Amino acid sequence: MIVSVFKVILFCLYASVNSQGTIALPQNVSAILAFGDSFLDTGNNNYISTVLKANFLPYGNDFMGGKPTGRFSNGKNIADFFAEGLGVKEFVPPYLDPSLNDSDLLTGVSFASGGSGYDPQTARILSAIPILDQLDLFKKYIGNLTKIVGEEATMNILNNSVTLLCVSTNDFIVSLPVNTSQNDVLNYDRKLVNLSLTVIQELYTLGARKIAIFSAPPVGCLPVERTLFGGLLRTCVQKKNEAAQLFNSLLKERLPILANSLPQSRVAFVDFYNPLITVIDNPQQYGLQVTNRGCCGTGLLEFVFLCNRLTPTCPDDSKFFFFDSIHLSEIGCNIFVNQSLPGLVASLL
Ligand SMILES: *[C@@H]1O[C@H](CO)[C@@H](O)[C@H](O)[C@H]1NC(C)=O
Ligand SMILES: *[C@@H]1O[C@H](CO)[C@@H](O)[C@H](O)[C@H]1NC(C)=O
Ligand SMILES: *[C@@H]1O[C@H](CO)[C@@H](O)[C@H](O)[C@H]1NC(C)=O
Ligand SMILES: *[C@@H]1O[C@H](CO)[C@@H](O)[C@H](O)[C@H]1NC(C)=O
Ligand SMILES: *[C@@H]1O[C@H](CO)[C@@H](O)[C@H](O)[C@H]1NC(C)=O
Ligand SMILES: *[C@@H]1O[C@H](CO)[C@@H](O)[C@H](O)[C@H]1NC(C)=O
Ligand SMILES: *[C@@H]1O[C@H](CO)[C@@H](O)[C@H](O)[C@H]1NC(C)=O
Repeated sequence: MIVSVFKVILFCLYASVNSQGTIALPQNVSAILAFGDSFLDTGNNNYISTVLKANFLPYGNDFMGGKPTGRFSNGKNIADFFAEGLGVKEFVPPYLDPSLNDSDLLTGVSFASGGSGYDPQTARILSAIPILDQLDLFKKYIGNLTKIVGEEATMNILNNSVTLLCVSTNDFIVSLPVNTSQNDVLNYDRKLVNLSLTVIQELYTLGARKIAIFSAPPVGCLPVERTLFGGLLRTCVQKKNEAAQLFNSLLKERLPILANSLPQSRVAFVDFYNPLITVIDNPQQYGLQVTNRGCCGTGLLEFVFLCNRLTPTCPDDSKFFFFDSIHLSEIGCNIFVNQSLPGLVASLL
């Protein structure tokens, strides 16, 4: 209670909303750094050997007039909208893009890779860049910055950057069997939370100071999960949602303990569960029509290579929360980021 009152006061002090409805930031953010899975991958998978790619239409249908980039969306994704909302830039380039210039690097990149998870087995099954390998890329990136602006300026950039960490969804999709006992779910969630804390600690050690950790989304309500395990009515898969919620509560409980042990850090828990459930249950309130299937093809199963030029898309993707059977549409990403940004600013800046 005291903590939440304090947060509200902080919010009022720092995150005043101006007349355009955009957020006035209390300090400038120098760069945005994204780690994790396809929700934040802006094209890294284009450069690795994996079937989890999105560098063909209809992905990118609404990106600069129809340009597939490897984002798992019809347009911009969550990393882009956070970067824009934080006043950094409109697009976050993938670190593996060989054509990056110095200013791209100085304002931040994405290290995220579609299919990655906290559980090393997840990235192995899906041939994604494991989260620990993403940290190795971060080390290289720091070397790149140091070469451009020197050591001290690099530390300053890191200190004033916002780091996003969105992982776990694929762990629940591919590594946690649907029929696991409650006790095994608890143990698995504990393991994921431990791995998450290890990653946060390592990001801090490398220089990140303002770190936003996404919770798990309502995995059981992803269209593909409804189709595979939700019965004829395609209801949300409760077991998966419960596993995600348990992970979220364990993470929320342990995060402040870790954060208190990291001097000069701000660590934010980004609720990626409740905002999504709220939109899924109340589409009209957000100007949407469909939240239980994707826009691509039938919307029931199509994603990555199953969603392609031969699968016709819905007539108006701005009415769909999901673009394919796993990933949010551009409008879905925008709605989520608009809901989360004030809280993220209040806790990090
Ligand atoms: C998100 O917020 C921005 C800035 O206030 C606004 O321009 C945009 O229309 C909002 N988008 C959605 C989908 O609510
Ligand atoms: C952010 O940077 C701009 C341009 O450098 C500057 O004009 C502005 O005062 C800064 N804002 C804050 C809150 O530091
Ligand atoms: C760097 O590349 C971006 C596109 O990624 C471009 O907008 C920008 O103008 C380039 N900057 C320089 C200095 O070349
Ligand atoms: C970053 O540094 C690595 C070496 O650690 C180098 O291979 C790579 O080309 C550099 N990237 C850029 C964009 O300069
Ligand atoms: C890091 O940034 C915070 C505010 O953003 C500032 O108070 C602190 O002195 C900075 N630390 C370093 C080492 O630059
Ligand atoms: C789940 O487990 C129960 C009992 O342990 C069993 O009856 C049921 O068939 C299993 N369902 C699936 C989909 O494996
Ligand atoms: C997670 O970490 C805690 C404390 O650091 C430890 O006691 C526990 O055994 C770990 N659990 C798993 C499943 O790794």
